[in-house]
Amino acid sequence: MAKETLSITDNRTGKQYEIPIEEGGVIRAAALRDIKTSAEDFGLMSYDPAFTNTASCRSRITFIDGDKGILRYRGYPIEELAEKSNYIEVAYLIVKGELPDRKHYAAWESNITTHTMIHENVKKFMEGFRYDAHPMGMLVSTIGALSTFYPEAAQINDLESRRLQTRRLIGKVPTLAAFAYRHTRGLPYVYPQNDLSYTGNFLSMLFRMAERDYKPNPILERALDVLFILHADHEQNCSANAMRSVGSSQVDPYSAVAAATAALYGPLHGGANEAVIRMLVEIGSPKNVPDFIKGVKEGKRRLMGFGHRVYKNYDPRAKIVKKIAYEVFDVTGRNPLIDISLELERIALEDDYFVSRKLYPNVDFYTGVTYQAMGFPMEMFPVLFAIPRTSGWMAQWAEMVRDPEQKIARPRQVYIGEQTRHWTPIEHRPEPTMREDAVSDQI
Ligand code: SDX
Repeated sequence: MAKETLSITDNRTGKQYEIPIEEGGVIRAAALRDIKTSAEDFGLMSYDPAFTNTASCRSRITFIDGDKGILRYRGYPIEELAEKSNYIEVAYLIVKGELPDRKHYAAWESNITTHTMIHENVKKFMEGFRYDAHPMGMLVSTIGALSTFYPEAAQINDLESRRLQTRRLIGKVPTLAAFAYRHTRGLPYVYPQNDLSYTGNFLSMLFRMAERDYKPNPILERALDVLFILHADHEQNCSANAMRSVGSSQVDPYSAVAAATAALYGPLHGGANEAVIRMLVEIGSPKNVPDFIKGVKEGKRRLMGFGHRVYKNYDPRAKIVKKIAYEVFDVTGRNPLIDISLELERIALEDDYFVSRKLYPNVDFYTGVTYQAMGFPMEMFPVLFAIPRTSGWMAQWAEMVRDPEQKIARPRQVYIGEQTRHWTPIEHRPEPTMREDAVSDQI
């Protein structure tokens, strides 16, 4: 029977090594340290910038098969959850590992609903922002500020504290998000209305005006709830990695979620949905798509909302979002920008530049036109990503805290800088040469 090992010959020494191949087809990078040229030698290290081929953890939460376009939360296919479940139930599944029975669902929903309020002092933070502050910047800041209101959250090894902070964050992030939106609009804050659903309450805190009894449009409420399901977790993406890495220092989860939210803010990650809309507006019309695609192929632009580190096939979430877009348009009217999206997709899926690089629409490609039709300003799009992802981040964090193999994340490096140099008096120094990160030779 074939041995589950890797046989390595170090040609520098002729020595041979057997490295176990563990379940999942992995070898431990630490095993490379035994491959030395002498007893004093540090041994070998693996070099993997951006972790393109490095597993940082073992996880039970989300499974992705990038080649087949498969996404499952705790084993349940995303297509089934999007069709049959709701976000609160999916958040329970992701955090707890199983679908809740009726009793546990009711308790979970009630526990989160009772944590939707935020300390009144948080409003003072909001008011310190300019009217045109990006809501993601406000969200990063106010989530981090929550750590000062709940100092007991630092007890990260206390199970009950982890559970309480998880409920608080899933409950409060929509409120912070809605308050940030209302601040940018110069509107009074709308407090949580706990007789509404999780998503319905979020819509109320965003859009309620003078009406006494706000009722969200049920089609839009369901559409947003499904979009929340689609964004709940996605294994070791950039922001989940930030959550785990920052959390590995044993900081409180509010500070770690603030770091994860900051990672999500970037246009290559959760900020892509906003970047897609800006791209569509810039293209302006389907007839301009060929010129834009030409610029992409010349390396001048990126086709935002396309490509993925893991999916080398159509992102299964993008298929569902595309369907939701039309359900929303039935209520709001068609967003004409989708015609540009469709033409971009049509051309890209036939063009060898994209096909050869296995670039397909990802979750962000159709969300923007959908959110815009629902009345969200584009700056809110990444916020709509952060809200549902909070449950994923908390599940990833708790799994990391419980994992006996995990400790503070501290990668190594390959040093390519100067060898030892000695200080010289300023009068003896030559004009400094161009520093590596200098844009120009300004002081
Ligand atoms: C999310 O990781 C996750 O799971 C994230 C996420 C989640 O749920 O958490 O799924 C959410 O972040 C989705 C991705 C949103 N980002 C975008 O839509 C931004 C546009 N896409 C890219 O920038 C890019 O595709 C990434 C960042 C998503 C992935 O980048 P990789 O894996 O580092 O790939 P790469 O940059 O090395 O590109 C490989 C090649 C390059 O060409 P060559 O150098 O080989 O010639 O593909 C090209 C890239 O230039 N390429 C693109 C492209 N994406 C990659 N060319 C044009 N347009 C693009 N969008």
